[in-house]
Amino acid sequence: MTNQTQKPFSFKLLKTDGLARRGEITTPHGTVRTPTFMPVGTQATVKAMYPGQVRETGADVVLGNTYHLMLRPTAERVDRLGGLHTFMNWPHTILTDSGGFQVMSLAQLRKLDEDGVRFQSHIDGQKYHLTPERSVEIQGLLGSDIQMQLDECIKLPSPEEEVQRAMELSLRWAERSRVQFEKMGGPAKGQGLYGIVQGGDVPHLRVRSAEELAKMPFEGYSVGGLAVGEPQDVMLKMLEVTTPVMPADKPRYLMGVGTPDDLLESVARGIDQFDCVMPTRAGRHGLAYTRFGKVNLKNARHMDDPRPLDAESACPAASSYSRAYLHHLVRANEALAAMLLTWNNLAYYQFLMQGMRDAIDEGRFEYFRLKTKADWAKGDI
Ligand code: GUN
Repeated sequence: MTNQTQKPFSFKLLKTDGLARRGEITTPHGTVRTPTFMPVGTQATVKAMYPGQVRETGADVVLGNTYHLMLRPTAERVDRLGGLHTFMNWPHTILTDSGGFQVMSLAQLRKLDEDGVRFQSHIDGQKYHLTPERSVEIQGLLGSDIQMQLDECIKLPSPEEEVQRAMELSLRWAERSRVQFEKMGGPAKGQGLYGIVQGGDVPHLRVRSAEELAKMPFEGYSVGGLAVGEPQDVMLKMLEVTTPVMPADKPRYLMGVGTPDDLLESVARGIDQFDCVMPTRAGRHGLAYTRFGKVNLKNARHMDDPRPLDAESACPAASSYSRAYLHHLVRANEALAAMLLTWNNLAYYQFLMQGMRDAIDEGRFEYFRLKTKADWAKGDI
């Protein structure tokens, strides 16, 4: 519920520099500085991180997943326990995905029709029926500040008729999601619901999807169905045709993206929000992101290296542990390896986003983009 101290969802566009945008999303749980990177906390935890530590890296918002949480511990239980913010001890903004994308990648025996998607849990085989209405209901029970419509994301490449069918279904689901969101009192609680642009790698379908969604009163708009197997230049081309037809006064969220370079190039094309498992997953696999590119700590070349990952970083994981020690922890499969490298990676992603925000504020985004790419190209020495 909103009260005097809680603010309803709003978006303020503060500054533009080329197509890059600097803004601020306000939700009942705080302010989100955009462009923003949202660490993924699928199961009500950002893996290998304490919530306070996630906050200290500079994150304003984390992402939770309808699919995982509806199966376990269930949305009704989270609601009884005071909502997702309380449950996971993250008092800041939470965004939830709608479940459709995860059903398609994780669930068994999926069957999709006009009404929704039926599937069996990957945990115990139990049967579920997820509809646009039920997805919004679950996200409401979780108490998510920023909710997503149920959509259908297909893999690429796919035949154009198939891309069109999924895009049109997603538009009909967008309308149903909006009706349910209003019924649940989402706007009165200060929450936001985003529509999701689909249309695969077909420019005119992307444009139609964005135009139709823009006619519906969403608090924000997502770009879905990208980073699903297409090359980066195809993804960027889709952004170039899509962002100009998205409402300029609403936040734009590119779902499931990406590498540091994807973030830089997508902000350059007018995107404000990102989420991706990359920094957290890579951290659990011995990979570190730094100002000078990616470092594979499994590699034997680090065995005798006393240098930290980045002596100048504000993150202790980057500045206070030798590469030799990190290599040892990774090789020994120690929990601390995942903890330190996840910490380093999330801190680096937030450092990159802060760099972009400062550059846009100061009207030097293009210089920042080129300088950052030149530093990555130098490589880690
Ligand atoms: N995460 C990454 N891509 C997508 C998408 O297309 N739809 C949804 N709902 N989530 C995503």
